[in-house]
Amino acid sequence: MALRLARRRSATQTAQAVSAPAPGSHRNHMKRNELKAIGPDPLRPDARLRWRDHFTLSENVLHVPGMHREHDGLRIAHLSDIHVGQATSAVRIRRAVAEVNARNPDLVFLTGDYVTHSPKPLPRVIELLAGFSSPVFVVLGNHDHWVDAHYLRSGFERLGYTVLQNEHRVMHLRGAPVTVLGIDDGRTHRDDVETTFRGAPESGTRLVLTHAPPTIDKLPPNGNLVQFSGHTHGGQFVVRGLTEAIFRRAGQPYIQGHYHVRGNQLYVNMGLGFGFGGPYLRRGTYPEVAFFTLRHVETASAHA
Ligand SMILES: [Fe+2]
Repeated sequence: MALRLARRRSATQTAQAVSAPAPGSHRNHMKRNELKAIGPDPLRPDARLRWRDHFTLSENVLHVPGMHREHDGLRIAHLSDIHVGQATSAVRIRRAVAEVNARNPDLVFLTGDYVTHSPKPLPRVIELLAGFSSPVFVVLGNHDHWVDAHYLRSGFERLGYTVLQNEHRVMHLRGAPVTVLGIDDGRTHRDDVETTFRGAPESGTRLVLTHAPPTIDKLPPNGNLVQFSGHTHGGQFVVRGLTEAIFRRAGQPYIQGHYHVRGNQLYVNMGLGFGFGGPYLRRGTYPEVAFFTLRHVETASAHA
């Protein structure tokens, strides 16, 4: 099954799907981004698996102006909205972790909502999400704050994962610094962009994690930043024309996939949890594990 980003409409006048630049666009310095493939998960042949244990896997290429040249080809895995509990298959989560490890990305990003309403699954979250073999960066979502943010933070830190709540870290990969900025959840009004960016490098490879997509509107414009988010579950139950209007009205113009917003980029993951039965059905949207390959783009100033 091959779905293309072309089917996605732009969310706002400033956010455009990546399939083709709009006529007269000023994005001429930006190469075309690509969603290479999205389809059934690669582990599917196991006949004993139930449909609810599956996920889709997306492969995305992001062209990032201003990124360090050394990071051309950098690989990132992104999981979001895992919502451990009855509505999400534990087998699906285990298989997603195994698939990430099999592809050995440079970084793993987890962008929030590990639980839903009950605190009961909290120990299962840490158990199921243990074992990533690449460096893991974590931000929290609205449901995590409503249930027990402290438990989740300390649990992930025990696994050696880096949890960022309005904080940033600079790490060295392939001989150059990567700045990872983790902004806390905007749905619960905890997204403090100023504090997150204070003291951080103002150029180079800068990757932003935050649960709620609209935080993109608060980022410094023209920063060549890439923001990874979730929260929307790709619209959860998509009825053409209606779902987008409802999300817009709820202040969520960015529903699924890739957008350009004020000189930065955004990817909204459909989330791994829910769907295929249980109380939280999906329609027109699929549990997703997203992979990214970053591509270096020469900027005008680099030639000056
Ligand atoms: Fe959420």
